[in-house]
Amino acid sequence: AQTSNASATARAYPNIALVKYWGKRDERLMLPAAGSLSLTLDVFPTETTVTVDPGADRDRFELDGAPASEEQTGRVTRFLDLVRERAGTTARAVVRSTNAAPTGAGLASSASGFAALAVSAAAAYRLDADRLALSRLARRGSGSAARSIVPGVAVWHAGEDDGSSFAEPVDAPPLSMVIVTIDRAMKAVSSREAMRRTALTSPFHAAWISDTAQALEAMLVACRDGDFTRIGRITETNALRMHAVIQSADPPIQYLAPTSVAAFDEVRRLRAEGLEAYATADAGPNVVALARPADAEAVADALAHLGETTIAGPGPGAALVEPAGGTA
Ligand code: PMV
Repeated sequence: AQTSNASATARAYPNIALVKYWGKRDERLMLPAAGSLSLTLDVFPTETTVTVDPGADRDRFELDGAPASEEQTGRVTRFLDLVRERAGTTARAVVRSTNAAPTGAGLASSASGFAALAVSAAAAYRLDADRLALSRLARRGSGSAARSIVPGVAVWHAGEDDGSSFAEPVDAPPLSMVIVTIDRAMKAVSSREAMRRTALTSPFHAAWISDTAQALEAMLVACRDGDFTRIGRITETNALRMHAVIQSADPPIQYLAPTSVAAFDEVRRLRAEGLEAYATADAGPNVVALARPADAEAVADALAHLGETTIAGPGPGAALVEPAGGTA
């Protein structure tokens, strides 16, 4: 029987895309213009508890121990509305979330955040949802969150409608990522706004979308073949092309800082010296180097002068956990 104040806690990890998602074909349904592929990490988790509160007249959202902004709370409420619609209830909820990484700084906190929210809300509202359904649900909160439902390497199929746009696991060779935290500040332009502006104003947008679709096909072959070099080359090229299309928006958007560019240069220099790594960056200044696990320490040492480094490997998909300390 449904208890009136059902509660559930979930943990989800960020993911870093090797083939990027940048552009929507349907903003309401959050359908991407092209598919993408990522590695779910084993660092910087988000932990979220949803407690249904039938007596409340609105949702409350607490982020890292403090009430979240109205905008952040509005995003959570719009997401919970989807869950409530499916659950056939109007009951509000209290959402408490903690991020191990700084929120909004391009370390994919929206991916781990909405993946953790999807899993905890689905459980608290007693939705019957398997992993595929959870991936589709998480997608509605933040596109990239669809991939954090999945452990390790995930492909997010662009799909044609709500039912066909979800992420699923892909076999890949062992991969490590070295995260270089260059700036912890909140990004100036949200990825949502920046994607919209890119699609509306960049003369290169259509080329970016068709190139990404090709890159994804090539990446899936490289993963299947266990070809690290091919995976790395596609990753770095696709990241630089994403930043190129973002820079070509009007007004232009620049997520990379001078130190980010220095990190790309350093990674290229390491390759020339025989240490094989490839760089990528999301909608922010932080750079992530892709390496073979055996090389990750050496790559991290070489990048340490540019920012704090964190070595990550493949992490688990979003899942329910027992709330810390028993009662939430
Ligand atoms: O889903 P969003 O709004 O967090 O967009 C993610 C966009 C990138 O991180 C830049 C690329 C990606 O595929 O994760």
